[in-house]
Amino acid sequence: MRVLLTGAAGFIGSHVHRALTGAGHEVVPLDLMVPAAHGPGATVPDGVRRVDVRDGELLDAVLRGVDVVCHQAAVVGAGVSAQDAPAYASHNDFGTAVLLAAMDRAGCRRLVLASSMVVYGEGRYRGERCGPVDVGLRRPEDLEAGIFEHRGPETGEILVWDSVGEDAAVRPRSLYAASKLAQENYAAAWAAVTGSCVTALRYHNVYGADMPRDTPYSGVAAIFRSALEAGRPPQVYEDGGQTRDFVHVSDIAAANLAAVERPLPGFQPFNISSGRPITILEVATALSAARGGPQPVVTGRYRPGDVRHIVADPNRAGYALGFVAAVDPMDGLAAFAFAPLRDSAGICAPSL
Ligand code: UD1
Repeated sequence: MRVLLTGAAGFIGSHVHRALTGAGHEVVPLDLMVPAAHGPGATVPDGVRRVDVRDGELLDAVLRGVDVVCHQAAVVGAGVSAQDAPAYASHNDFGTAVLLAAMDRAGCRRLVLASSMVVYGEGRYRGERCGPVDVGLRRPEDLEAGIFEHRGPETGEILVWDSVGEDAAVRPRSLYAASKLAQENYAAAWAAVTGSCVTALRYHNVYGADMPRDTPYSGVAAIFRSALEAGRPPQVYEDGGQTRDFVHVSDIAAANLAAVERPLPGFQPFNISSGRPITILEVATALSAARGGPQPVVTGRYRPGDVRHIVADPNRAGYALGFVAAVDPMDGLAAFAFAPLRDSAGICAPSL
């Protein structure tokens, strides 16, 4: 198949690029090379075309004969400041809108969209006495007192988490999350009005070789890894019991390949995860042990707005997409302890 790949020079995009070409697909790789992802002054990799997805005329030229678009280009990170909002809206949402319009002009009817588990906000919770609960933000008094778990609004009991299926309510918490959900909404509406197919891959916490080094916009695995490289202990927030699903970037690439090769009707979202939840303290401990570095420090500090537990139910990707993650997080993290990292600026606003 002829596949247009956006964000092809990025951390995830470059792994997807290799997986697609390795499977014999003809890839048209594009990247804008924004400093936020590639660091200032990065050069365009061989074969990649420098194209901004917000430029419809340039897209018209590259979309000829394309069977499916695999859209990885995005400004990422949780959003550190309200000043980041225009960059998320411009690159992620306006960019997707321009791309969808260009795909319509080109008669290209299939999109694989990189989405994120951040669309859910918090995961699912229940209490023994109060049953399932839709949680909001944790109470500042609880966090200050070192009570990091969600509590039942009426009973005050500590809630336990459940895994999140694709039918869970979407409640974006950050500017980035809002932009990822808007991308999904535009793509779903485009699928409905044009009779096209969209497979949205909701990536859980991605890690692996070539991940951007620590910036305020980096995922925690890169932050811990960078600390260990500098001989410092990983700083674990809260009590370290926050649960996530860490999925290796090679599995993300495999999920994209599966989605490209398996057209599904309408708009279909999937959790893309390892299916093996792990706490943040376990992540830090695994990386420290693999590097023979200092033990993690559990700080009790917290970041306002952080979600407590978000754990995927990966089953739907297994039966509908034929994707099952191959890398166990403990093995993947041990390898990641020595994997190369890429430089990035991690700042959105100047790259508008
Ligand atoms: C992360 C990404 C999000 C992405 C999602 C899925 C960021 C900032 N967040 O969300 O954009 O869509 O994964 O791939 O890019 N923590 C520490 N010590 C630190 C930093 C963080 O203990 O130095 C903790 C946090 O408090 C949090 C957990 O690690 O509980 C995960 O943090 P992080 O990787 O930033 O973000 P997610 O919210 O999981």
